Amino acid sequence: MNHETNTEKKLQQVRDGYTEMLKRSQQKSGCCSTSTEGAYYDAQEVADLPPEAVQSSFGCGNPLKFAEVKEGQTVLDIGSGAGIDCFLAAQKVGPTGRVIGLDMTPAMIEKATQIAKEKGYSNVEFRLGTADKMPVEDSSVDWIISNCVINLAPDKPAVFREAFRIMKPGGRLSVSDIVTGMDLPPAVRNSIEAYVGCLAGAIREEEYLEGMRQAGFEQVEVTSRLVYGPEQVSTLIEETANTMKSSCGCGCGPSLAPWIKQFAGKVWSAQVEAVKPVKS
Ligand SMILES: C[S@@+](CC[C@H](N)C(=O)[O-])C[C@H]1O[C@@H](n2cnc3c(N)ncnc32)[C@H](O)[C@@H]1O
Repeated sequence: MNHETNTEKKLQQVRDGYTEMLKRSQQKSGCCSTSTEGAYYDAQEVADLPPEAVQSSFGCGNPLKFAEVKEGQTVLDIGSGAGIDCFLAAQKVGPTGRVIGLDMTPAMIEKATQIAKEKGYSNVEFRLGTADKMPVEDSSVDWIISNCVINLAPDKPAVFREAFRIMKPGGRLSVSDIVTGMDLPPAVRNSIEAYVGCLAGAIREEEYLEGMRQAGFEQVEVTSRLVYGPEQVSTLIEETANTMKSSCGCGCGPSLAPWIKQFAGKVWSAQVEAVKPVKS
């Protein structure tokens, strides 16, 4: 299989996986997904958000937590899913600002658009597209945020170059994502469950930061890390595997349970910040 076909196949597997996870999350009763039950969002923040977006959040952090997004600014969320961080950003930028959610999964775009319409978010729009070719003008956004998405992109350097292209000079990036402190073994790299679960596509933290610097970003730094223990690593792998197996019957590879212990402490959710220099 050539490189392009391989990449497209991977993207389609991710789309299928997240279409199914969205469907399942909407069927669950209650109002909180596992990610929002954790330390990512303040209870008050979540209470003010559309419950459907909260219920269908799949992030690994809160990219807006320390981002100083101001009224009137334009924010772009790469891999916006059902829109949780876009709706949060919409409150910060206010009626004079603008939020664009970008996602490559049509079901996510439909759900997020429906929520925005029903809840009257007139300053938020959702666009279908991939992170390595964003349907967004050059130098047009003040903030780029992203929550647990770039690990899923087959060509990460291309995503960083795109992020740099669409950002205004002086703009800022705030991203939560899974990175590693080890090279993952081929058995894991090749597992589609582990890929959709945000583990197999994760790269070493230093490589991730270097990709950003290569794209032209400055002041690239990790401002916090949430290091995963065995239980969290197991969730990354097993929850996705169960969803995929029982839905489409796809991704029924060998169990990755034996690897879990080895990854504990060597995989984490990093909060990464960067700036596009005023003169580049
Ligand atoms: C783990 S979920 C996170 C969703 C959302 N950020 C949140 O916090 O709930 C990953 C999302 O990224 C999208 N995605 C994955 N790879 C992508 C890519 N290369 N380009 C655009 N969207 C992508 C998926 O469709 C999915 O909605």
